[in-house]
Amino acid sequence: MKKIINIAAALVLAGTAFAAQPSIDIVPRPQEIKVTEGAMQVKGVTVYADAKFDVTTLEAIGKFSASLGRVTVSEINCRITGQPVRPGSRGISFVKSDNLAKEAYRLVVKENTAVVEASSRAGVLYAIQTLKQMLPVKVYGNEPAPEEDWRLACCEIFDAPRFEYRGMHLDCCRHFFTLDEVRRYIDAMAIYKMNRLHWHLTEDQGWRVEIKKYPRLTEVGAFRNGTMIGKDFKSNDGIRYGGFYTQEEVKEIISYADERGITVIPEVDLPGHMLAALASYPELGCEGSQPYEVWTIWGVSKQVLSVGKEDTMKFLEDVVGELADIFPSEYFHIGGDECPKDEWKNDPACQAKIKELGLVSDEKASAEARLQNYVTARIQNYLAAKGKKIIGWDEILEGELAPGATVMSWRGTKGGIAASNAGYDVIMTPNNFCYFDYRQLEDKDAQPLAIGSAYLPFSKVYSCNPTEGLSSEAASHIRGVQANMWTEYVATPEHLEFMVLPRMLALSEVQWCTLENKDLDRISSSLDNHQSKILDLLGYNYCKQHE
Ligand code: ACM
Repeated sequence: MKKIINIAAALVLAGTAFAAQPSIDIVPRPQEIKVTEGAMQVKGVTVYADAKFDVTTLEAIGKFSASLGRVTVSEINCRITGQPVRPGSRGISFVKSDNLAKEAYRLVVKENTAVVEASSRAGVLYAIQTLKQMLPVKVYGNEPAPEEDWRLACCEIFDAPRFEYRGMHLDCCRHFFTLDEVRRYIDAMAIYKMNRLHWHLTEDQGWRVEIKKYPRLTEVGAFRNGTMIGKDFKSNDGIRYGGFYTQEEVKEIISYADERGITVIPEVDLPGHMLAALASYPELGCEGSQPYEVWTIWGVSKQVLSVGKEDTMKFLEDVVGELADIFPSEYFHIGGDECPKDEWKNDPACQAKIKELGLVSDEKASAEARLQNYVTARIQNYLAAKGKKIIGWDEILEGELAPGATVMSWRGTKGGIAASNAGYDVIMTPNNFCYFDYRQLEDKDAQPLAIGSAYLPFSKVYSCNPTEGLSSEAASHIRGVQANMWTEYVATPEHLEFMVLPRMLALSEVQWCTLENKDLDRISSSLDNHQSKILDLLGYNYCKQHE
C-alpha cells in the first residue's frame, strides 16, 4: 500500500513538474504584467500577421515564425491575413492596433492563443523580444531543440518605454571594431529594447569613415604609427594600427540596425578631436601648429581646426553633408566636447573671424568660446537644410547655443539640468552613471583595464534617474538616456563585451521602466539566472560578477 501511494505521489509530482507554469523573467521589465493560469504550447502553432502592417514589419514577424519553427522542430506557418485573430484556432497573432503609442504593445497569452497588438514595427519588435524572453533560452540559437518545454505562460502584458531615446554609444576610433563586432553589439542592444546606436567615427587617434570628397581622411587619417602601451603615455608599441568603414559598409550597418529597430546616429566630433583630419589635410590647421600626426596616445589634443578659415568650414559642411545623405537618422551628432582654444588665440584666421563677427569676451564666455558657438550654429543650419537636428556634448552650451540643438549631458547631469531648464532637449549620459569605460568591480585586478580610477558598478548604473530634481517642465525635455563606451583601453571585442555586459541590462531598465517597476534585487536575480543563460548561449563575454 505504501509503495502504491509513493508511486502515485511520484506521478503527481512528475505531472506537476511538467505542468508547472513557465516563468516570466523579462529585462527590461514590462510596464504591467498579470500572470494568469495555464500555458500555451507553441510547437506547431500558426503565426498570423495582420496584412495592415507594412512590409518590414511583416518580414520581422516572418523571421520570428521561421526561427520558432527551426528551434521547436515543428511546422510553424506564417499567414498574412486580414483576420489575424480567429476564434478557436491555435495561433500567435500580430494585430495592428492604431490606438497604441508608437513603441507600445499588448500581449495576451491564453491556452490556445497569443495575441500581440501594436501600432508600429517597433511595438512588434519589442513584443517579439518579450516572447523570446518568455520561451526557453534556446530560442536565441539556431539549433533544433525539440526536447525543450516550448510553452508560454498565460499572461496579460501591457508595455511601453519610459523614454523614447534609449541609446548606446560606441567609439570605433580609439580602437577599431569590425562590422561583425559592431553587429554583435547591435544584437545585444536589440534584446534589451534599445533604439539608438551613437557611432563615434572621428577622433584624434583615427578617422573611421570614408568621405568621397576627402580621400586622404581614410588614406592617411585612418592609421596611426603605433599605440601607447597600457597607461604609459611615454610608450609606443610601434605597431601601425587602423581601419575604416566604406560608405557601403556603413549602409550595411545602418540597415542591419534598422531591421532590429535601432537607428544609427553618426558623430563627427568637431572642431576639437580632429588630429586625424589635420594629419590628412594640414592646411585646415592653425598657424604654427604643424606638424600633425594621427595621435598615438590618449587625451585631449591642443591641435584643433582653424575654424576662422572658410576652407575649414567648407570641409566640415562637406563631411557632415556626405554623411547626412547616408544616415537616415533625424539626429546628427556634431561632438563639440573638449576643444581647447589655445591655438585660436594665436591664429590670425580665427582672430580675424572673431573680429568680423564682432565676438567679445565677457563674464559669460570668451570670444573664442563664442567662435565655437558660431561653428555649431553654422553646422546646425547646414544640417537643418538637410532635415537634420544636431546633438552636441554639453560644452556646446558654453556661450550661446542656438535653439533647436539637443544637448548630451556627459559631465554629470548639470549640463543636462541647465539645458532642460533653458528649454533645450537633452539626452542624459552622465559619466558618474553611464560611462562604461569605468571599471565595474571594486577589485581592480578582477577585471581588464579600465579608464581612470572611477568605479561604476551595475547597481550604480541601475540607480540612475535621469529626471531627478527636475521640474516637470524641465523633465519633459529629457528625451532619454545613453551609456557611452569609449575605447582607449578596450582593444578587443571580448574586452568590449565585458565592459558593456551586464551593465547594459541595468541601463535598459533605466531607459525603459517606470521608477515603481525598478527593483535591483529582481534584476540581479534575473541576471544570475535567466539573463546569464541568454548571454551564455549567445557567447557574449560578460562580466560574471555584478556589484
Ligand atoms: C566625452 O566624454 N569627452 C564626451
